[in-house]
Amino acid sequence: MAKMEVKTSLLDNMIGVGDMVLLEPLNEETFINNLKKRFDHSEIYTYIGSVVISVNPYRSLPIYSPEKVEDYRNRNFYELSPHIFALSDEAYRSLRDQDKDQCILITGESGAGKTEASKLVMSYVAAVCGKGAEVNQVKEQLLQSNPVLEAFGNAKTVRNDNSSRFGKYMDIEFDFKGDPLGGVISNYLLEKSRVVKQPRGERNFHVFYQLLSGASEELLNKLKLERDFSRYNYLSLDSAKVNGVDDAANFRTVRNAMQIVGFMDHEAESVLEVVAAVLKLGNIEFKPESRVNGLDESKIKDKNELKEICELTGIDQSVLERAFSFRTVEAKQEKVSTTLNVAQAYYARDALAKNLYSRLFSWLVNRINESIKAQTKVRKKVMGVLDIYGFEIFEDNSFEQFIINYCNEKLQQIFIELTLKEEQEEYIREDIEWTHIDYFNNAIICDLIENNTNGILAMLDEECLRPGTVTDETFLEKLNQVCATHQHFESRMSKCSRFLNDTSLPHSCFRIQHYAGKVLYQVEGFVDKNNDLLYRDLSQAMWKASHALIKSLFPEGNPAKINLKRPPTAGSQFKASVATLMKNLQTKNPNYIRCIKPNDKKAAHIFNEALVCHQIRYLGLLENVRVRRAGYAFRQAYEPCLERYKMLCKQTWPHWKGPARSGVEVLFNKLEIPVEEYSFGRSKIFIRNPRTLFKLEDLRKQRLEDLATLIQKIYRGWKCRTHFLLMKKSQVVIAAWYRRYAQQKRYQQIKSSALVIQSYIRGWKARKILQELKHQKRCQEAVTTIAAYWHGTQVRREYRKFFRANAGKKIYEFTLQRIVQKYLLEMKNKMPSLSPIDKNWPSRPYLFLDSTHKELKRIFHLWRCKKYRDQFTDQRKLIYEEKLEASELFKDKKALYPSSVGQPFQGAYLEINKNPKYKKLKDAIEEKIIIAEVVNKINRANGKSTSRIFLLTNNNLLLADQKSGQIKSEVPLVDVTKVSMSSQNDGFFAVHLKEGSEAASKGDFLFSSDHLIEMATKLYRTTLSQTKQKLNIEISDEFLVQFRQDKVCVKFIQGNQKNGSVPTCKRKNNRLLEVAVP
Ligand SMILES: Nc1ncnc2c1ncn2[C@@H]1O[C@H](COP(=O)(O)OP(=O)(O)O)[C@@H](O)[C@H]1O
Ligand SMILES: [Mg+2]
Repeated sequence: MAKMEVKTSLLDNMIGVGDMVLLEPLNEETFINNLKKRFDHSEIYTYIGSVVISVNPYRSLPIYSPEKVEDYRNRNFYELSPHIFALSDEAYRSLRDQDKDQCILITGESGAGKTEASKLVMSYVAAVCGKGAEVNQVKEQLLQSNPVLEAFGNAKTVRNDNSSRFGKYMDIEFDFKGDPLGGVISNYLLEKSRVVKQPRGERNFHVFYQLLSGASEELLNKLKLERDFSRYNYLSLDSAKVNGVDDAANFRTVRNAMQIVGFMDHEAESVLEVVAAVLKLGNIEFKPESRVNGLDESKIKDKNELKEICELTGIDQSVLERAFSFRTVEAKQEKVSTTLNVAQAYYARDALAKNLYSRLFSWLVNRINESIKAQTKVRKKVMGVLDIYGFEIFEDNSFEQFIINYCNEKLQQIFIELTLKEEQEEYIREDIEWTHIDYFNNAIICDLIENNTNGILAMLDEECLRPGTVTDETFLEKLNQVCATHQHFESRMSKCSRFLNDTSLPHSCFRIQHYAGKVLYQVEGFVDKNNDLLYRDLSQAMWKASHALIKSLFPEGNPAKINLKRPPTAGSQFKASVATLMKNLQTKNPNYIRCIKPNDKKAAHIFNEALVCHQIRYLGLLENVRVRRAGYAFRQAYEPCLERYKMLCKQTWPHWKGPARSGVEVLFNKLEIPVEEYSFGRSKIFIRNPRTLFKLEDLRKQRLEDLATLIQKIYRGWKCRTHFLLMKKSQVVIAAWYRRYAQQKRYQQIKSSALVIQSYIRGWKARKILQELKHQKRCQEAVTTIAAYWHGTQVRREYRKFFRANAGKKIYEFTLQRIVQKYLLEMKNKMPSLSPIDKNWPSRPYLFLDSTHKELKRIFHLWRCKKYRDQFTDQRKLIYEEKLEASELFKDKKALYPSSVGQPFQGAYLEINKNPKYKKLKDAIEEKIIIAEVVNKINRANGKSTSRIFLLTNNNLLLADQKSGQIKSEVPLVDVTKVSMSSQNDGFFAVHLKEGSEAASKGDFLFSSDHLIEMATKLYRTTLSQTKQKLNIEISDEFLVQFRQDKVCVKFIQGNQKNGSVPTCKRKNNRLLEVAVP
């Protein structure tokens, strides 16, 4: 959507009046009230025609945003509410489009907002002028020059925390397209006395505090500085910290700005070294020393500081020390050296510090200029911005205030000249008759100061150059003589007796009635400051410095270039530069910003009427309005005027065809505005009285309301009509669509019904045919079925008789089979363990299974015995055979038997093979040994027993001595006839031998052994296998034994407990051997 152009005017939504010219009635009170009303509504800007009055708000207002810049861009001056941007825009466009060099003159008291205003103008111009990398760099450099200059040239004063202590005029240069090319800065009279001394509550220049707060430790060390402010005599301490000011952060900003502006690192460093040197100079102190010839002399108290300064600046210490103690005056090839007393030494020190600093400042300005100067030689358009110190009235006003106020007088002068001239020129341009108005012209004050023959500055110079003793007092006397009659000069001692009794006027002072008020000047210091003397010894010492920057600051110290002519005085220098400035300004189109300070407290929202009133008076603002209104209060080009008021008359509304001027004529005639109230210029209409304008505005407002109603009416009618037509059209469309839809739906319904009916009929027909066919098929199938059934019945009837005959037997067999099956399956699950001695066997379920059950038990037992036997090895089998044999022989016959069942039959109890004792014995026997055991052989004679080794081999029975292993007797088995033993629990047994055999010569053997059963069994078995004869084993409690020739009866008696549990044997007589068994 294209942006709609809305024509607005300064007159819209005005608070008070935006332009003082429209003030009605016009007097001081209404003027101030209007300012106050606007100030209270945050409207800090007000016009007087094209002049902008700016009231310092002392708070940041949201009216400088980029959006605001866009608002004011390319708008007519009176189109929007008053703003500094409107003035900047007007100036910039006039420069760009009409090729007119511009200057923006910003005036006002210290702290009224001049510097801020100049920055706003610059930033506005920077925002609206050309774009591009190169242009942006130029802009950036121009803008960044501000922080650098402010750090070195601004200080906190009682009036302003950031007061400019120098005058600044900056020309911004543009090419024909309006793109910035560069700039030139001029500076005016830095207030250098501040370097060495500051009034109460004020500070030295910002840079000192910034350096000490913001520099790194490393940098401070390098500069031989300490962070503590109190270390430096030149820094006032009572206001070292300023509220809301971060010196350290500002230091970084300044360093950064220096870089952007184009300072090399070493340059920036040199600058800081000079600053450090100045600070340290203040710490040099002197003490008096009297010399013999009565001359006063001074001496440096502590040379440490001096030494450090010399190291910092590369000056020979002795040179500087000498420069502080001597002064050389050269006149016509003559050199006279005088010593300096303490006061003079201090004076020299301070003069050096001041000069060093102010020269550094000028060097900075030049250096910045070098960076920002335009690089091309094409013709440039120039916009100058003047931000000069405002009018100053302090308690103690000195030479500086005098100079500053003189400068302000000159500016006021040029303001008056230019505004009046401009007004006059406009009237001439517009062909309007000029009427004279009265206003105060301050030319007379300027004359008092600058007149070449008897002006104050001329007098001062004269005094300074005059031979003989010159003091401030002689200067005052001179003034008293020369200026006494001047209306604006007041002095107690003047020839004019008016002030003789004026006690407010001390003797050492003179007073000037400036356009802005009376100012009392202390005459003390005027001569010195005007002379601005730096002893040549000092400048020469400085020139000798190896520090390049310092050296360059003191070119006059070069002995090769000694110039004996006095340098121009400060006053005359300033006068000349002001004159150049004025000339420069006069060639340009002026734009004024008049800054007003609303209160002395630097506080927001406070509007001190008395203070403002004073400023309005001395700024001559009321006169300004009057001059502006002298002829006509309001003027406006015909086109915007017609555009604004054309609705007030039928002929011009809504469009006027023809020149705008005749349109305005018709309009004014029609409105019956009295002819003396306005005049027609060439391009503008001039309205004499604001009342007329307000009447026009009222009418316009009324008419606008009517027009608004009319527009509303027409619009509403149009809206309803179009709405109705739209509804009507829509209705037709909807009806058509609906009908079509309904018709379609009905058709669909009929169609689908027809289809349903059709399908029903077809279905019915098909079903009928199908039924017919099914019936036929069923009939055919029925015949077959009936036949099958009939056959079935026939066959069943035939065979029924065969079924019944075997049924009982079959059922019985089946049942039996089932029972047996069940029994066997159950048995399988109830089987007892595989141990042959397990007696368990499940109970029998049916009687008829009794024999089977027993047979099964038997078979199972046999089977598990076999299983058990199968585990045996041959050896074990042998053992069991022997055990079986033993059981057959002794079971139930001998009481000893049961205890032998558990004993395994080992046979070779004595291990003859292994025992070396029986080696011989072993070697003697070649056969296999079946038994080797120690037995007791019962002595036949007494029944006592001896141990013998009993050996049984396959064929023989051997007895051997137990100790020697020597064979005692050997009996072949064939000679053994019988073995006898008792039935009791004893181990006695007798071996009977065949009568007549060789072995039997000594008789039968009677033994006792623990293994009787085993021995008897083995003997029996061996004899059987060797001789195929059964050995006779007699078990009886009384048997006969053949001892040599005698037969002795061995008798076993039971129950004799006399000999303990061991059976004992005893020979009773030669026929009886008694064995007692326990
Ligand atoms: N337009 C403004 N908006 C906000 N504050 C302002 C404005 N103009 C001035 N000030 C405040 O007033 C102080 C003094 O302004 P400055 O321009 O330094 O005064 P001058 O240069 O006239 O001595 C500034 O530091 C700032 O705080
Ligand atoms: Mg300032």
